[in-house]
Amino acid sequence: MVRRQSLHGQWSSRLAFVLAATGAAVGLGNIWRFPYVAGEHGGGAFVIIYLACVFAIGLPLFMAEAMLGRRGRRNPINAMQLLSQEEAGHSGWQVAGWIGVATGILILSYYSVVAGLTFSYAIDIAAGSLNHARPMDITAHYRELMNSPFELLFWHTLFLAFAVFVVARGVEQGLERVVKFVMPVLFLMLVVVVVYAGAKFAFGQAVQYLFDADFSRVDGDTLLTALGQAFFSLSLGMGAIMAYGAYLPDDASIPGTSFAIVLVDTVVALLAGLAIFSVALGSGLDPATGPGLMFHALPLTFADMPGGVFFGTLFFLLLILAAWSSSIGLIEPAVARMVERHGFSRRNAALAIGALAWLLGVLTLLSFNAFSGVRFLAGSLFENLDYLAANILLPLGGLLVALFAGWAMSKASSVDEFEIGTGLRYTLWRSFTRFVVPLGVAGIFCRALGWLP
Ligand code: TRP
Repeated sequence: MVRRQSLHGQWSSRLAFVLAATGAAVGLGNIWRFPYVAGEHGGGAFVIIYLACVFAIGLPLFMAEAMLGRRGRRNPINAMQLLSQEEAGHSGWQVAGWIGVATGILILSYYSVVAGLTFSYAIDIAAGSLNHARPMDITAHYRELMNSPFELLFWHTLFLAFAVFVVARGVEQGLERVVKFVMPVLFLMLVVVVVYAGAKFAFGQAVQYLFDADFSRVDGDTLLTALGQAFFSLSLGMGAIMAYGAYLPDDASIPGTSFAIVLVDTVVALLAGLAIFSVALGSGLDPATGPGLMFHALPLTFADMPGGVFFGTLFFLLLILAAWSSSIGLIEPAVARMVERHGFSRRNAALAIGALAWLLGVLTLLSFNAFSGVRFLAGSLFENLDYLAANILLPLGGLLVALFAGWAMSKASSVDEFEIGTGLRYTLWRSFTRFVVPLGVAGIFCRALGWLP
């Protein structure tokens, strides 16, 4: 194994990597994004395709990113540059790192706006203003918030400041402790919400909605969105896992760790889907409501729950922390690059990246109100940014990573870095990375462009 050192230190253990990567993976993508995109695409078939993408494409790529990150022990751009040089004799593959860093900033910009909404809901629920609210009141509340650009700006700024502050101080500090506490409690709360919402609303219908697949209505866009959701939820295709892999101890086993993280992330998304669709289908809320789905269904769940103010506030606070640990993964690759390559201090790098994401985020929050008339391609400005990042840039980044790890990198190097021998596990990884991932991603791109029947 090539033993390099990272400039930013190393995780204290394999567990620290698991926690940080789980923190990056589990976030708004699972609880906010998964249910609403599934709802917009009719549930059932979408969910099955998403699961197939997670395990056939996401898992091998997760392993590949962690492996490349550890081998390079640098930010994603420099890691890809160095490994490309070593393996291919030129540095062309660094383009995957560049796409990743840009995509991270793009996602961070609107992620922070939505996390800001979560913040605002936590406060409103704590103040009791959504207690015993009827669906009508909740809709009115959401509309009012969406139509208050300054309020959105306030929460967006607050959330981003909070994330930047932590990255500025160094990634390891605090993250471990927070994730260790937040993830299990969030998981438990989610189970409670599923049980309560399932019993009070429509559990049976939610199960049917999520798993009863009608493939006849699947089109290229459904496939692409399911693929994009798998990438988004697992934090793949933009170097985040590579950046975290760079701090992974030499002796940590990558396959087992990756599988555990991918599994947890997926179970959390499915639980969120069960909870939110139980409420939606049981209360006449349209599953295709769009990005506001979670902000309607969750307050409705807590409105009449015994102890609803307490549980509702707790749930939204946990969600903010989960979003926070994800946003750190979105900032880290860019910051690591600026520190390693351009000699910035961590603080200045984090501030610069934060400022850029803040400005872009303003476009997203204005697209809910002042710019709501601006519509093209995928819809509003926000929808276009999200479509570009999740459905195009992440899969493209992932495709490049798979081509590099599977084809450009010598077998000897990946065998050496994985340290799992050349048995079944390695062979499976290598065949999926060489064939299933590139053909899957390219095939779905072609279907979405109408180049394939
Ligand atoms: N996976 C995160 C979520 O589900 C969002 C995300 C996408 C992310 N790409 C990332 C987080 C990269 C950290 C790093 O909420």
